[in-house]
Amino acid sequence: LTKSDVVKIVLENRQSEPSEFGEAFAPANIALAKYWGKRDEELNLPRTSSLSVSLGEYGSYTKISQNGNGDSYTLNGQAVATDSTFARRLGLYLDLFRPAKDFFFRVETVNSIPTAAGLASSASGFAALAFALNDFFQWHLDKTAISILARLGSGSACRSVYNGFVEWQAGIEESGMDSFALPLPHTWPDLCLGLIEISSEEKPVSSRAGMKRTVETSVLYKSWPEKTEKDLERLKTAIEKKDFELLGQTAESNALAMHATMIAAWPPLLYWLPKSLETIHKIHRLRDDGLPVYFTMDAGANIKLLFEVKDMDDVRCQFENIKIIRPFDRPGEKV
Ligand code: PMV
Repeated sequence: LTKSDVVKIVLENRQSEPSEFGEAFAPANIALAKYWGKRDEELNLPRTSSLSVSLGEYGSYTKISQNGNGDSYTLNGQAVATDSTFARRLGLYLDLFRPAKDFFFRVETVNSIPTAAGLASSASGFAALAFALNDFFQWHLDKTAISILARLGSGSACRSVYNGFVEWQAGIEESGMDSFALPLPHTWPDLCLGLIEISSEEKPVSSRAGMKRTVETSVLYKSWPEKTEKDLERLKTAIEKKDFELLGQTAESNALAMHATMIAAWPPLLYWLPKSLETIHKIHRLRDDGLPVYFTMDAGANIKLLFEVKDMDDVRCQFENIKIIRPFDRPGEKV
């Protein structure tokens, strides 16, 4: 099946009647049990389920309207060059939704994620775009359908459809109609994330290419599905019981195991920079000294800390320029 086939299934017989504009916000998310490896490259269907936490008010706001002649995109108020990777990726995604060949879009995106934090914004970007298209064309789709549409843009985007803890169920169907995100019913108001920027440069190998290379060449990849499925269950227990140590240990171990599969790929994928390793050692030293702080990393050099609010001051003292986010501490949603 192609992406276009799936869009047809999702939209059923809905008409795409453009309104004046559509708009939406979606949060970024950080995986605690990672998505690494696809079973379908075209539809972004994963080999395993994954679990993430969304970043509340940190994400992407997207406004979409019709444009006269050719697509036009802005990011944080700046025009995006049409020959950039970003524009090409967006254009291909929008092709799935044009009511006519000569229908063009104007897409304005503003990211509230601290850009310096080196956090991937494709997840919140594609989730916000899927929501904004739904608003613009007045499809009235539910969140499961939006999650499936967001996944076609970027796998991890399907999790950015919800706030809080989110599980992306891998599914088994060829069409991927059973591969979407669902929110977990628990909050964790004391949970803090710390973003440590190691490098703001674009990663040398994209997640898409990195996953493919790992699946095809890494001798360690065969142990990954079992590992991440076990971790996902452990994380669910940790979340239910608010067992921070179990959460931290599991997330850190999952991220390290993912990086181990990458390092064993050929050519090797070593996203860590000297500063990443230095920070990892520092985290381990702090833990030995009694500070409960753990980390996770994605396909890049940056580090995301996990700790509880009681340790916020100690953590802040230890890491210069750390950006602290409390995913569950949002106005009106205090528990
Ligand atoms: O959604 P993608 O294709 O950008 O892949 C994301 C992969 C990781 O960030 C490394 C893991 C994850 O689950 O988010």
